[in-house]
Formats: sequence, C-alpha cells, structure tokens
Amino acid sequence: MTEGTNSTSRPRRFRIAHLAEAKSHGDKLTMLTAYDSMTATIFDAAGIDMLLVGDSIGTTVFGEANTLGVTLADMVRATKSVSTGPQRALIVSDLPFGTYETSPEQAFTSAVELVRAGANAVKLEGGVRVVDQIKKLVLNGIPVIGHIGFTPQSENILSGPRVQGRGDDAADRVLEDAVAVQEAGASAVVLEMVPAELASRITSILQIPTIGIGAGPDTDGQVLVWSDMVNMTGWQPSFVQRFGEVGAALNTAATDYINAVKSKSFPTREHSF
Ligand code: KIV
Repeated sequence: MTEGTNSTSRPRRFRIAHLAEAKSHGDKLTMLTAYDSMTATIFDAAGIDMLLVGDSIGTTVFGEANTLGVTLADMVRATKSVSTGPQRALIVSDLPFGTYETSPEQAFTSAVELVRAGANAVKLEGGVRVVDQIKKLVLNGIPVIGHIGFTPQSENILSGPRVQGRGDDAADRVLEDAVAVQEAGASAVVLEMVPAELASRITSILQIPTIGIGAGPDTDGQVLVWSDMVNMTGWQPSFVQRFGEVGAALNTAATDYINAVKSKSFPTREHSF
C-alpha cells in the first residue's frame, strides 16, 4: 500500500505523549475508527495518528441498531485484529457498555483485557460520573481518552443522538465533565455532538487535546467513523464530509465480477495453474 501514503512525513510511532505535544504546537490530531487489520493497515500507511477500535463496531460491522449489544469479547477480538497491522498509529479501544460503570476495579479488569489485546489506550464514556474509573486506570498504567457530549451508550436516557450542551446550564454541565475528565488524568477527550462555540471554549480551557466529532472546526483533532467518511451505506450523519465513494466502488467491482463469471470471461487459462 503506497498510494496516498504519508508515513514518510510522520515516521515515528505515535505515542500518548505526542497528544500533548500536538496541542502545544497547534498540530491537528487525526483519528479514524478501524475494526480489522486490513483497514487499520491502510489508514496507518496514510499517516493517521490514532486508530479507534470503536464500539461503533456494533452498528457498522454487526448491523445492530446501537452500540449497547457490543461485548468485551467483541472488542478484544477486534482490537487483536487491528493491532496486527499498524506500524505507527496509537491504538485506542472502547470499553463497551456494562464493562466499567460499576466500579474502578471493574473498569481496570476490563481495560486490562483490551491492553493485552493490543490497545495502547482505552476510551470510556462519561464525565463526572467516571472520574474514579479514569483515576484507577491511569494510576495503574493505562492511558485514558474520555468521551463526553453525546455518549452513544446512554442513547436511551438521552432519547437518541442529540446535540448536548445547548443552553447555559447544559453547556456548564458539558464543561464540568470536560474539566473532570482532565483532572482525573485523561490524556485527551472526545467531544461528540456539541455546539461548535462550546467545543471551541472547552478546547481553549483544557490543557489536554479535544477530539471532535460533530463539534465544529476548533477542536484539537477530529475523529470519524471510517465507513461514514467513505460512504459505505449511502447515509451518514449531517456533520460528516464524504472523502471517498467506497460503497459505490465495491458495488461496481462486485457487479463486474458477477458479470465476468456469468459471461465466462473470468477465469481464463491465464488465471489457471
Ligand atoms: O465508537 C465510536 O466509533 C466512537 C466515535 C463515534 C468517537 O466512539
């Protein structure tokens, strides 16, 4: 994989310390989801800073309605697959719903599984309510990325994917979560579906980088779900830009293949032993 490769411009392994370094230099951070070795290797060769083994695997790969059915075993398997390919990117794995909320000990036991599978850091959802979990992980050597604003694992209580932090009180709550996550020791925080102005304010207040998704242009970095970015399904959230048409390219390839087999133009003697 050489086409589009950026690795010569950014050759060193991306490590947790580079998050703070990037923020201090004003370098934008890049993150994409990956659920398998093939896509992880492609994005790594392109020069992505971080690969997120997201619990969005539930919707994107398993075809489920939300992320709530994803288990720790699912995340361990995907993390193992993703971590076999990349040479440079930092691998971040999501702690899935039900595997960290009960206690710091539960969070640590679950996070250890992800680290053993190849994660360099874990991400968990929540602000003030998960500070003890974040402290426990960081004290015991596991870097944490927070995730606040719209948190998909709470979609039932939030009544679906909705912008969080509209209005003064709601904005204060998101800011309070951001500060709590930083003070607990997180290395960065994902801001999902928060108004651009609030994301900008949080980004200027925090010392740790903010990574936005549906959070406007002023965060320290950006994360997207890879299948949204390249239009695999014909639908994506309104805040996503399409950077490719991979769904259509696969459809064309599959159609050409079917036609070639049916018309007996493939395989030929050339493809034989
Ligand atoms: O699981 C995921 O893909 C995520 C992103 C939406 C940040 O958490």
